[in-house]
Amino acid sequence: MTVQTENLSGIDIRAEIERLRKERNAIILAHYYQSPEIQDLADYIGDSLELSKKAAATDAEVIAFCGVKFMAETAKILAPEKIVVLPDLDAGCSLEDSCPPEKFKAFREAHPDHIALTYINCSTEVKALSDVIVTSSSAETILAQIPPEQKIIFGPDRHLGGYLARKFNRDMLLWPGVCIVHEAFSETELIKLKAQHPGAPVAAHPECPPHIIDHADYVGSTSGILKFAKEFPGDTLIVATEPHIIHQMELALPGKTFIGAPGADGQCSCNICPYMALNTLEKLYLALRDLKPQIHIEEGLRLAAKKSLDRMLDMAGGTVGKGDLGAR
Ligand code: 13P
Ligand code: SF4
Repeated sequence: MTVQTENLSGIDIRAEIERLRKERNAIILAHYYQSPEIQDLADYIGDSLELSKKAAATDAEVIAFCGVKFMAETAKILAPEKIVVLPDLDAGCSLEDSCPPEKFKAFREAHPDHIALTYINCSTEVKALSDVIVTSSSAETILAQIPPEQKIIFGPDRHLGGYLARKFNRDMLLWPGVCIVHEAFSETELIKLKAQHPGAPVAAHPECPPHIIDHADYVGSTSGILKFAKEFPGDTLIVATEPHIIHQMELALPGKTFIGAPGADGQCSCNICPYMALNTLEKLYLALRDLKPQIHIEEGLRLAAKKSLDRMLDMAGGTVGKGDLGAR
């Protein structure tokens, strides 16, 4: 873990972030899983796809990325001329950890007639070994464009892959990775919660295992869940994803009740993403002040990873570059 040794008492952190943001011509991008205090001062909050697009389009010279490392790396791949800082470089992801590039490469080589459709929650090296990247909000649009006879490897999230395979009735080879956060929801506790709130719909992220998805009235990305929260007609919603997204729901709809789906003992905080939680206001301030930790990617690797990301942006409807799809 990046240890913060400096004594920051006496510094008005928010005022300093404001000053540095202007001085550095910086944009602060934040994922919905960041703490409310970070969300509240971000220039832009979004899901993985929206944040990628924003990074590619911004005129700012510095991108302060409040999210996890694969997201900040995606920003750097798409905007190499920008300085990209991540408040804590240890903000990783269990899905990325589950998929070491050498093992993924060997798996691909063992299945040469398959294309690799890969979830954005992976390393830059794995992106470079993939044909098309997807996010949870773009996966269905992209999968629908791939001919039914084309064989597919989907990694690293077996739950998102399994959800897509069931929905599209497609046989896909699934990499066995999981998100530790979405894996922690308890079906037993969810059933109890639903009984306490009869009629309250459940909105779930597709990283949830099937026994949670089976109870969901809506399944979608973080931005999809937020949209559902803004549109559902009732007054209580059960939210089966990282609970910090509830902050945006409460801001938009103060009269409604949003309840985070429970973990095993019904009230643990095991559904808070421990990687996202590494970013703090203090570390954001230091990142803007010192312009570090910075994301650096070797140019050959960046260009190789950009191909699969460009295909995603192209196929998802936000063209940045073109790419042809085919088996490797
Ligand atoms: P979204 O693309 O839905 O924002 O999801 C990112 C993520 O890491 C979910 O755990
Ligand atoms: Fe990774 Fe899960 Fe955290 Fe998302 S919530 S960043 S998938 S560990």
